[in-house]
Amino acid sequence: MLLSALRAAPLRCGALPRFTPLKSSATRSIFSLANRSRIVQTSRTLAVEPQCSQTRTPSNALRVLGQSRFISFTKSSSRPATGATADSTPLPILAPPAVGGWLMASATLVLAIIVVGGVTRLTESGLSITEWKPITGVVPPLTHDDWMVEFNKYKETPEFKLLNHSINLDDFKSIFFWEWSHRVLGRLIGVAFVGPLAYFALRKKISRSMTTRLFGLSLLIGAQGALGWYMVKSGLDNSHMEIPGSVPRVSQYRLAAHLGMAFLLYLGMFGSGMAVLKDWKYANGAPWSGATQNISGILQNPLVKRIKAFSWALTGLVFLTAMSGAFVAGLDAGLLYNEFPLMGGRLAPPSNELFDPAYAKAEDKSDLWWRSLLENPTTVQFDHRVLATTTYFGIAALYVQSLRPAVRAALPPLANTAIRAAFTMANIQVLLGISTLLYLVPIPLAAAHQAGSVMLLSAMAHVLITLRRPGAAARLWRAAKAAGKQQ
Ligand code: HEM
Repeated sequence: MLLSALRAAPLRCGALPRFTPLKSSATRSIFSLANRSRIVQTSRTLAVEPQCSQTRTPSNALRVLGQSRFISFTKSSSRPATGATADSTPLPILAPPAVGGWLMASATLVLAIIVVGGVTRLTESGLSITEWKPITGVVPPLTHDDWMVEFNKYKETPEFKLLNHSINLDDFKSIFFWEWSHRVLGRLIGVAFVGPLAYFALRKKISRSMTTRLFGLSLLIGAQGALGWYMVKSGLDNSHMEIPGSVPRVSQYRLAAHLGMAFLLYLGMFGSGMAVLKDWKYANGAPWSGATQNISGILQNPLVKRIKAFSWALTGLVFLTAMSGAFVAGLDAGLLYNEFPLMGGRLAPPSNELFDPAYAKAEDKSDLWWRSLLENPTTVQFDHRVLATTTYFGIAALYVQSLRPAVRAALPPLANTAIRAAFTMANIQVLLGISTLLYLVPIPLAAAHQAGSVMLLSAMAHVLITLRRPGAAARLWRAAKAAGKQQ
């Protein structure tokens, strides 16, 4: 990118850009960093004296950049922005807060669709739209005849035939509403993400690597739509009519994949948004995670390293627990053993129930162990309890660790606050989970429990973000500002 930009613009002189010489060592170190940075805005920063006639070649232009230790910062250029002004230095692109705000708003929309998706499942509305029309599906039936066409299509589904044969048109309209809202929200997320992404990328408000990463997230949004339809198809499958006792519902595997991908999308948007906002503040001189000490010193501290590694492991565990929750939801396993902490008066159900051979499909029963874990509702609920309890005590241990005076002093203040918030959220989430179970999965509690899992994941991600070193661009901008002030 750098070389093509240099080739594209003819340069008449290999002289230095019009900058004031500056000799402070702080400035030199800034530019040794700047020269190493690969995301430089070359086209505007290489403005040179127009009188000379030397043609710009990639090598002499790079030499110009190499000489940039002589460059100083003007007052106007010291304000972090996406790129630099004509008389400023080749600083990397630093995404502005608008980018952070857009990413956080996108993450909020994903949280909303997760909750609407949960309510859609809980109200058993998910199979009410029997086709996937990515464009025209945005318009709901408008006339009575349109509604009848949709209702008649639904009447052909196993869900109507086996479970819902007594519903009338008004009932159908209300289940249709949830599934339709879920799908419309999905499209809205696609447009609200891809549109601004194209804008920010074209206006060079975000670096190349960030553009690539966020483009990957847009692909994930598209894939999520396709996966959603693949999941719905499993519930419309006519084989449900042939298997005695079969309940027409979507495959728990596909439900877990759909929920897992939604969580990954959410994490991608939330993590990137937080990083952009924090980097911007840091570049503007705010303390890093509330700390006044040197960042490297803090991050190299073995106590901090241990807390960070533990937090990564716990974030993974929260994700795994949430995935096991999707299996509970997918198999309606929350309608069994509605007591806590015991299951049928014991800590664990008997092993012949946990590993009931009826769930094996292979002749030699070699698949019994994994089918029990993923297909037997008793085992699936038991796994969710074990994982949730481990996650809870893990986060409690993190919190207790953070209370130790040595650890408290070693961590930046914001990390301590974030750990406290994560522990609070773990308490709320476990209480919501237990209440959901005890009250036989009422819709408001189950939906709150689902939203709670996203909040807990966000809380753990936030702990990690408070321990993240600011990005290279933010470090350069901050150093540049500091050097500008020193003059
Ligand atoms: C770290 C704590 C926990 C996390 C992250 C978590 C996460 C989840 C998730 C993501 C779901 C799927 C929701 C859906 O797709 O609708 C779920 C379902 C469920 N969880 Fe948890 N959970 C936790 C703790 C618990 C606890 C302690 C219990 C009670 C023993 C519990 C009971 C349930 C039940 C009954 C469901 C099924 C609800 C339904 O059918 O919608 N959870 N959980």
